[in-house]
Amino acid sequence: MERNSAISGFYRLTVDERRRIVQQWGDLTDAEARSFDFPPGIDPALVQRMIENVIGVFPLPLGVATHFRINGKDYLVPMAIEEPSVVAAASNSAKVARAKGGFTAQTTPPVMIGQIQVLDVVDPAAARLRILAERDSLLAHANAKDPMLVKFGGGAREIEVRIIPSPRGTMLVVHLLVDARDAGGMNAVNTMCEALAPEVAKLAGGRVVLRIISNLAVLRLARASATFPAEALATENATGPEVVESILDAYTLAAVDPFRCATHNKGIMNGISAVVVATGNDFRAIESGAHTYAAFLAKDGGIVKPLTTYEKDRDGNLVGTIELPVAVGLIGGATAVHPTAKANVKLLGVKGAQELAHVLVAVGLAQNFGALRALATEGIQRGHMGLHARNIAATAGAKPEEIDAVVARLIAEHAIRIDRAKEILEELRRGAPA
Ligand code: MEV
Repeated sequence: MERNSAISGFYRLTVDERRRIVQQWGDLTDAEARSFDFPPGIDPALVQRMIENVIGVFPLPLGVATHFRINGKDYLVPMAIEEPSVVAAASNSAKVARAKGGFTAQTTPPVMIGQIQVLDVVDPAAARLRILAERDSLLAHANAKDPMLVKFGGGAREIEVRIIPSPRGTMLVVHLLVDARDAGGMNAVNTMCEALAPEVAKLAGGRVVLRIISNLAVLRLARASATFPAEALATENATGPEVVESILDAYTLAAVDPFRCATHNKGIMNGISAVVVATGNDFRAIESGAHTYAAFLAKDGGIVKPLTTYEKDRDGNLVGTIELPVAVGLIGGATAVHPTAKANVKLLGVKGAQELAHVLVAVGLAQNFGALRALATEGIQRGHMGLHARNIAATAGAKPEEIDAVVARLIAEHAIRIDRAKEILEELRRGAPA
């Protein structure tokens, strides 16, 4: 019989009832279903307040990157990520940067942009001026919607109006600039945009459709820089200055080729997203902002840009910089309620959202430097091999006491494949000589 996913009232069921349905639906064993269990320390009621139709939780590995020194302060950085080598690479890069004082980071004020889209305006240029003339009253109206934000020094700061031609006619797009302080800003900005929409529509003589935050947070940037000493980069096969040149070559391809740029920026986000997830922030917002910003950087010509730059200083050391929108918060959202996120924020010891942004960009730069260094020297696979081989051995069915032996053979044979892992496991179990 064909199965029907239109389960009415699924949201009204208890977690156990939902679990029974999905277990049967997916033909899951009891052990498979138990993998959804709530671990100790995680309150099922809390999880059910966070999203709908909850059946359990999905734990990610949580690691801690070491050696980070940012603006003269040391951090242990929690990273939640499934990919091997990321935490190790971030820690190694932070160790190299530490020799020259670590990372220097800064942020702009935490200003977010909300958009109100107005259509069917007959006189867009004049409508723009009518809206700008009401700036003060519009800002006052917006701020009345969030007295707490205003009390903490934030609030609506400015109104801008853009006129955008489109296939559906000229659009007026009002930007409401809001200082979100230690919040991500989504709720405050969306509420304010919705509140202003009727007045904006009236002033423009048009029809409002969208009233929503922009994730292209070009006014909420975080930046970091670090010097990676050339002498620390020498390998068996290359001198430090040679490695610096190779890293500059590798970086430069990202600056001239979008296919490389996508991977370059992905490596940066390996680090940033892992910390964003660990601190309960909205990783989709940060990812979207970062990648759109990379494209936005090309607005005056050229192509999508890397979010980092590399140069040589007068002494031949490698100097890296990073800049991107980082709209993270410490109040509201999962950061304020998820016990693991709260513990991670406490572990980080950041006092505000801007300090968290400093950490994020430092980790992004470290991650990117680590990837470029590996790519420019031994290649990326060697670093990946150990953990990857362990995963392959476990997937092939190796018991904990068998994993080391299987991994050693896989690495020695340069054959980190599941079929070979299974053969090795059989040989070991038959007692065949290694
Ligand atoms: C892998 O997750 C990330 C890298 O591909 C980044 C890069 O190529 O710069 C290693």
